[in-house]
This record gives sequence, C-alpha cells and structure tokens, in this order.
Amino acid sequence: MSEEIEDHRLLNDSENEPFSSVLERRVSRRSIMRGGLNVAAVSMLAGFGLTACSDDDNDNRSVSEDDRAAAMMLAFEAVAGSKQDAVVVPSANASQKNGSAALTAGTAAATATSGYTAQVVMPWGTPINNNGQAWSQSLAFTPEIQANSVGMHHDGMYHFPISDDTASSNFIMALNNEYIDQGALWAPQGGPSENPRPANESRTEINAHGVTVVELRRDENRVWDVVRNSQYNRRVTSATPCDLEGPVAGSQYVVTAYDNTGRTTRGTNNNCANGFTPWGTYLTCEENWPAIFRKDSGREADDNRLGIGQGGTRYDWETSAGDATENNGEFARFNATPTGETASADYRNEPRTFGYIVEIDPYDATSRPVKRTALGRFRHEGCWPGKLVEGEPVVFYSGHDSRNEYIYKFVSDAKWNPADANMAGATTDRLAIGAKYMNEGTLYAAKFNADGTGEWLELEPDTIVPVSAGSRYAGQTLASALGLEAGDRAGIIIHTCDAADLMGATPMDRPEWGTVDPVSGEVYMTLTNNSDRLPEGQRATVSNGDSIEEPGASYGQAPVNAANPRAGNSDGQVIRWVEPSPGETTFDWDVFVFGKVPTSDDQNLSSLSEQNFFSSCDGLWYDDRGDGQGILWIETDSGTQYTNDQVLAVVPQGLSKGDNASVIHEGNQAQLKRFAVGPNGCEVTGIFATPDKTALFINIQHPSNWPIDDNGSNTPDATVEPTGDVRPRASTVVIQKADGGQIAV
Ligand code: FEO
Ligand code: CA
Ligand code: CA
Repeated sequence: MSEEIEDHRLLNDSENEPFSSVLERRVSRRSIMRGGLNVAAVSMLAGFGLTACSDDDNDNRSVSEDDRAAAMMLAFEAVAGSKQDAVVVPSANASQKNGSAALTAGTAAATATSGYTAQVVMPWGTPINNNGQAWSQSLAFTPEIQANSVGMHHDGMYHFPISDDTASSNFIMALNNEYIDQGALWAPQGGPSENPRPANESRTEINAHGVTVVELRRDENRVWDVVRNSQYNRRVTSATPCDLEGPVAGSQYVVTAYDNTGRTTRGTNNNCANGFTPWGTYLTCEENWPAIFRKDSGREADDNRLGIGQGGTRYDWETSAGDATENNGEFARFNATPTGETASADYRNEPRTFGYIVEIDPYDATSRPVKRTALGRFRHEGCWPGKLVEGEPVVFYSGHDSRNEYIYKFVSDAKWNPADANMAGATTDRLAIGAKYMNEGTLYAAKFNADGTGEWLELEPDTIVPVSAGSRYAGQTLASALGLEAGDRAGIIIHTCDAADLMGATPMDRPEWGTVDPVSGEVYMTLTNNSDRLPEGQRATVSNGDSIEEPGASYGQAPVNAANPRAGNSDGQVIRWVEPSPGETTFDWDVFVFGKVPTSDDQNLSSLSEQNFFSSCDGLWYDDRGDGQGILWIETDSGTQYTNDQVLAVVPQGLSKGDNASVIHEGNQAQLKRFAVGPNGCEVTGIFATPDKTALFINIQHPSNWPIDDNGSNTPDATVEPTGDVRPRASTVVIQKADGGQIAV
C-alpha cells in the first residue's frame, strides 16, 4: 500500500517495555538451524510446491544441513537501481526499451537473444467477461463495468492449476485489489465528485476493491492474457455477501441490521497480501479496512485499538446514504455510529465483520467467501501456511501491519490428513475442508526473546495473564482482564490485539509478508520499517495515555528490542524463525537481512552494496527449486531517491550468520541480487512463479505514469516508457526469460 494512504498510527498503547535491555541480544545461543527438526513425514503436494524430505539420523541437525547440496547460483547479472516509467529486468537490451520488440506482437522472444522480457497482464480495467468494456484512456467507469473488469491496485495473488498437465501455461489467478487511485479512476471527469458522493461513484469504487479471479492462459508466443468469459472469472468486491465462520460467527458482536443472526456480512476490503491453503483455496487478507468506517459515538475498546475513525472515512462512501437507490443500507453501513435502540437496528457492529482472513474457492465462482474469524481480527497483512506434516496441526502465520504491532500464529485442532490436499479439477468441497482446519484451533502472539529464542503466547479466554508481562492483571484470565464473560472466545477474537498486549507480545517494526521454506519449515517475515521505534533506554508511549494493558490502548512508540534493533527504523529487516514442529509454542529466530539505502550512517548492518541495497522490504516468496535449496524473493515498498521499488533474490541455504548481525553480511552479501525494478511511483508486490519456474509473476501497484497505452492493449511491454502522460494502471507483470528457460538460474 502506498505510504500516502497508509494509517500506521501508534495503535498500541502500552508501557510494557518488551525488553529491559538490548545489551544481551547478541549473546551466544543455539543456531537457528538447530534444535531437532526431526520430520516423521512430510506430505508431497506437487501442486503447491511442497517437497517430501526427512531427517531421521538423530544427529540434531536440520534437514537443510543434512540434505541440501551446495547452494545453487543465481545466473543473472544484478540490475542497477532505476528511476524511470518502465520495468527493468536483467539484460534487457536497448531495442526492447525502445519498444521495437512489442510483446503484443509476439516478437519479443524472437528479437531478444538474451535476458528477460516483462509483459503487462490483466491491468486494472481489463474486462473479465462481456459485461466489461474495452479499455481506453477515456473509459468512464460505471458500477457494472468495474464489477466485470479487473479491480484496481493489485497486491497479493496466487495461482490454481486447472489441470496438472497445463499448470504452467493455464491456471486460475486470484488477485487482491487493495485500494484505489481516485484520480485515475475518475480521470475522464477530472476527479471524484464532492460530498455527498453520487451513489454510482461510491458503488464503482466499492467494486474496484476486493479480489479478481480469472483464468489466465499463455499462447504459443508466450504472451499471457485473461480468458474472457471463463467459468472461473468473477469479482469479489467490498459489497459481495460473505459468510462469517469460527468463534465470532453468530455472536452478539456481529449482529447488524443486515443480519440479526450475525452470520453474514457484505464485502471484503483493503485486501493486501494473500495466502493459500493446501486444499486449493485462496486466502485474502483485510489490512487497512478501518479507514472505510467511522464511529462518532458509542465507541468501544476495539474501535480505538484498531483505529476506526471519527467524523469521516477514506472515500466518504457513507455520504451516499439516503440516496433513493440505496439498497438495504449499502452506504449507511460505513457509518458505525449507533442510531437504533439495539445493534440489530443499525450498523454499530459492521466494523466487527471486518479484519479477518477470508477464504475463497477459486474453482467455484458461485461459492461465497468465508471469513475465518478464528485467525484473529486485526489489520492482517497476509496469511501463510506453515510446513505440512501428516498427523500434526495445520498452522498459519499472520502479521499485523501497524507500527509496534504483533506477529500471530494459528494452530488447528484438526490434524493434517494428506487426503485433504487439492487435486486440480477435483470436485471436493474445499470450503468444508477449510472449515475443518480453520474454524477450530488456537491463536498465539509472538514474543521474541533477546537470546534468540521465542515463545508463542496463547490467546484463549482462560489463558492466565503472566506475571512476566508486568500487568496489573497478572494472574487473571484474559477474559476477565478484558471484561468479557468467562469462556467468551468470540470476545477474545474481537479484541485480539488487546489480548496480545496483555500477554506481553513483542511490538514489531510493521510485520508485512511471510513465507515458509517447505523443506526446513523456516518462516521468513518482512518488517518493513518503523518511524516510531525509540532508541534504547527510552520508555514506550501509549496511544491514549493509559497503560498498554488497558483495553483499547496501543503502543505509540516503543524502544528497540532484539528483533527490532534500529531506532527510527526507515529501511526494515527480514527475520526468520523455526519451530521444532508445527504445533510447538517455542521457536528460534534470527535476522536474515537488514535493509539499507546508500547513506553515510553506520546502520548498514548487512553490508548491502550497489547491487542489492533496498529499503522497506514487503513482499516475500520462497521458491522451492534446487533440491530443496530454494530461492528467497524479496519485494520492496518505499521508493527512494536511489531507486524505484524492486525485486531481489537470494539462495539462503549455505549462508551462515556466524558472529554477524544478520545472516546476510559483508562476507556473503554478493549472494543477494537485484532482479528487477518497477516504474516510478509504484510499489512492487505480489509474487509467485509457475510450477516449471519459467514465468515469474509480480504486481506493480500505484505506478505514476505506466504502462504504455499501446492502442488499448491489455498486454503491452512492461519495459517501455510512455512517450507522454498516460492514465496509470496497476497491473500484473509476467517476467520470462527470452529463451524460455527457468528464471534466475
Ligand atoms: Fe498493504 Fe502492509 O501493505
Ligand atoms: Ca491494550
Ligand atoms: Ca504490503
């Protein structure tokens, strides 16, 4: 998400200093890669890139150390930083940049003798069926056109094979449309209308959000495009009816005028990063959704804790309320100020139907999205499944992207049965499998100790607040401390963040994406930056002046701790951790790499160089190639004066931290290489490759003047700069090797 609309206020107000001192943070400890990663059985799930492996020699060394060969090499030349209105890929030659090798003409593969191509695919506004309308610079969007076209501001995405045989050339794409650029959306009329917003403008904007599901296909010239009118194509928007399942469903917390039973709601919003499940469904994650709501009175602790606004909203959709065409409170619901006698008469609880992980079956366009409330309610960046082990719980990791917020883990009650794995084309009821693994389980928040160990802190109603958290509620149950009825699991979920405060979770530098090495089970997560990280020795501040332990209070600023050791952190870091087994509540952690741009201060802790400096890591994906070695891909969201946002790659296995501050250090930093750079104004986000690894998909969000118009094409060359001003379109970009080989190696 663009910095311009982010709301990363200090939403956590606690005095709970996470660590009394950071002086101990580099004491000797167990290596992150050791500690009994004995694996009895790992499911083979080819469709999800999970590989079987075992470590049964009882030498207490990890799979990675036992079985992984010498690190494979990244066989591309790192690209330089770039500040242009074009995507830059390795070895792109001059003729491509001049546009003479237009991909739409299918000539790129023939004319480019080396290096990579980059093609725009499914940019905002691409029709997904015949109810959409062909793109043009002057296209005037309506609610119907937008509901039948690719949404705006692409973010997380994932691919779902239609058949195993064609998984690398023809698949279902599920894509998040995080937020909107009103200037681009309403460019033909000179911008959005004043308040009260016309009903059809609000509807169009609501329909530009959410998720796009389309069938994508590659032709004989390796040009990718949407299969218009495919049975899989659909939009899920911020108005689409969704089911609530898990602890919150049917509770008094989510009773609204729309559904007095509290089991359904309308829409998903600010869908940032994504996840996927082993049973073939897509997970879309609700991040900065609080900004679409206001609640001017009758506020409760969770409204304050999560930052529901007062007096206005981001797009003013609530100002369309009362329009003669308004259907069933479709606009009134964005104002959660109580107006009726009870919750069933108004929308005071509407915000409590948001803030979840949402499961979508991409194979069935008639299925309803399901909000899986057991995974917690906060500003979810994304959601990533942990290593799968037969007979063990299925786990999902998720981060709350605000300054000084937490990392979470959900552990299913049900144990993994490989028979539940997706098989392309199967008629399985995938959402029923989702209910089995995601409705019942335990949620935990992470505590990162200074000695490199960590704990998962349980968040159940009867969990006892520990003395170590330094709270006046020590010894009470979480339900009691939060003023809830005994056993109120729905209440704990509604107040997820306050529960984590009470348990003493570690405030992090804005958790963004995660990814899991499917062989070792190592979890990587980006911590993008944190301007509210205080120097060592300073006291934390709390949002409303109370202590963090009080419901509704959140950290304002928090001092450095071992996992977040840089004050005023402007460049971010990637951390990683590993657990003895999926359901364990302990872990070992380390910093993988610290971001840094070329400035003269002494904070370049990973010794980054011209070929790999970056700031504000965000997207992350573990590519499972190389006999389980894998490639870690890192994307960024913070254009700097040195370069636009970018994609980097590194082979983590074989790199060791030693006595350095991070795994990447002066002695091995050359292994981390810049692979691609995005156009001016954008962030680079969303990432996966086809199973055969010949096509890498990334997203370009909020570009300022890109891509080229190319006579309305939806598949122009991403590496060509427009000759003048264009109406910008967020888009997916597919990067392929000119010779059709595997990318990066
Ligand atoms: Fe939508 Fe935290 O990025
Ligand atoms: Ca609190
Ligand atoms: Ca992000």
